[in-house]
Amino acid sequence: QAPVDSLVKQVEGLSLDALADKYPNCYPQINPFDLYRAHLSNVLADITGVDPKIIYPALAWTQGLDKGDLTLPTPALRIKGQKPDELAKTWAEKFPDNDPLFEKPVVTNYFLSFFFRGPALVKGVLPMIQHFGAEYGNNKFNGLKDPKDPSKGKKRIVVEFSSPNIAKPFHAGHLRSTIIGGFLANLYEGAGWDVVRINYLGDWGKQYGLLALAYERYGDEQALQQDPINHLFQLYVRINNELSAEKEDIAKRKEAGEDVTALEANSLDEQARRYFKKMTERDPDALAMWKRFRDLSIVRYKQTYARLNIKFDEYSGESQVSEEAMDKIVKEMLEKGICKEDQGALLVDFPSLIPGKEGKRLERPLVRKRDGTALYLTRDIAELLARHEKYQFDKMIYVIASAQDLHVKQFFKIVELLGHKDIAEKCQHVNFGLVLGMSTRKGTVKFLDDILRDVADKMHEVMKKNQEKYQQVENPEATADTLGISSVMVQDMTGKRINNYTFNIDTMTAFEGDTGPYLQYAHARVCSIRRKAGLTDEELRSADFSLLTEQHAVNIVRLLAQWPDIVQTTLRTLEPTTVLGYLFKMTHELSRSYDHLQVVGSEREVMKARMALYDAARTVLGNGMRMLGLTPVERM
Ligand code: ARG
Repeated sequence: QAPVDSLVKQVEGLSLDALADKYPNCYPQINPFDLYRAHLSNVLADITGVDPKIIYPALAWTQGLDKGDLTLPTPALRIKGQKPDELAKTWAEKFPDNDPLFEKPVVTNYFLSFFFRGPALVKGVLPMIQHFGAEYGNNKFNGLKDPKDPSKGKKRIVVEFSSPNIAKPFHAGHLRSTIIGGFLANLYEGAGWDVVRINYLGDWGKQYGLLALAYERYGDEQALQQDPINHLFQLYVRINNELSAEKEDIAKRKEAGEDVTALEANSLDEQARRYFKKMTERDPDALAMWKRFRDLSIVRYKQTYARLNIKFDEYSGESQVSEEAMDKIVKEMLEKGICKEDQGALLVDFPSLIPGKEGKRLERPLVRKRDGTALYLTRDIAELLARHEKYQFDKMIYVIASAQDLHVKQFFKIVELLGHKDIAEKCQHVNFGLVLGMSTRKGTVKFLDDILRDVADKMHEVMKKNQEKYQQVENPEATADTLGISSVMVQDMTGKRINNYTFNIDTMTAFEGDTGPYLQYAHARVCSIRRKAGLTDEELRSADFSLLTEQHAVNIVRLLAQWPDIVQTTLRTLEPTTVLGYLFKMTHELSRSYDHLQVVGSEREVMKARMALYDAARTVLGNGMRMLGLTPVERM
């Protein structure tokens, strides 16, 4: 028996299959809002004479529960020759008094506001949440090649994110990419897509030749084993300082008229270039050293990603792009007139290729240097095409800082000009703004691990303040770590992606306001009520939902009913804040309700019903948090 049945049964003549066929992307079995929208469209079609298929997409969300659950701006139905205000009034009057799912609509100017009837909603939605549990909110049809025929298989999406540079700091940009990318991958997985998570490491280029030189001189095997990321970074900084000093020295001598040819030929810069050249020629010794650095770094990255609940399917990287593929592409670009020679180098002259503003904006990027080596841009073109070949994806998302907007536009465009418009159109750049003021308590921050440790320490201090609770937490260190990570992630996901934000350890770890600890607290609180109530799942399933008559209870269910629809909207916005904003709305509604809906101490049947309500809220809260990449805690 489908759990939505209890809702459907209340509407005479309503059939789920009929609804699903009638309206596009309508899945009343798993999304209560789809059922309500479909039923309302049917009713309004009778009243207005308008095609229900026009009504259905015109039904919008409201600003808040006080404005109803759905709203219709009457002009959206495009009726000519009548005043929208009057239409609204007439239709409201004609709306049946005894509709099983909706109250009589409220008219404000030309808007009709519709409120779900409490009893039907509560009886329909809570069993649905109990039934689907962790799957409530997921719509696996979204990811099907053909929603009507699952045997045709799933659509595949590649999400490229994180992509740090070996031996360089894992900076705020990488952190944001990691958080947003992890979230997007979860979102699509829940929507039934086959998701491939790729980490495109910055692991190639002359600077890795330089790093190898540094290791030959100052490397410490033990330090490398123990903490490769820090050790490589130290080497990197040291050799780069030497490099700049040397450059300065040569420049000075040159100015003084000295012959610097010999100095230059043996300079660090030149040695690094030669070393990297050996790497591109696949010299076994040169490659072996580089591969060790890469492998050891990946081991460490994996540990950090695990704390964030992230696993990659592939550690790709700039080093993995084949020279042959790039040669082929550059040759093709030359043949097709996409790039041309300019002082020995090759560049794409967008302003002359594409008329108007677009061409100008794309500038004139190089695709091959004078010494014949390829660039970041060239690698991205070849990598994109190689990924398409390998994964045959239906969609690919790049989670890269908005500072690289131009770069991404350039390589998408070049792929298009190469005759792969179809492939370019499957690619989307999901960008994000800067993090300002990111520093530890000790100074400027370098590594993600340091930040996470600092924030966890802070949370640990806060937890210790409540000794009674603290004693009951099984593994306080681990909980503090989880809370710290939640603080960082929630702060990051609070605004729209494109906004910059200021990293502030004090505000993010506060329990007041819409923070990570507050969200975790809301979850832990429901878990605590459940522990105290001591009811079984079976008892919650057999609860009498008609006892949930209070407006506070109904309001919570109205919000819970929105979750699958929120997920659908998130698939359009690709904004973590769409989910997070919803979760905070829900936690606020929950905390308002506690004084009115006592669980422990109430009469047994009432206790069961209320506990079932809060348990459903816990499910939805947990589903949302996990989608964001958070680990919901049960005690804190
Ligand atoms: N490693 C690059 C950086 O740190 C980010 C890579 C982004 N991805 C790409 N396909 N270009 O700036």
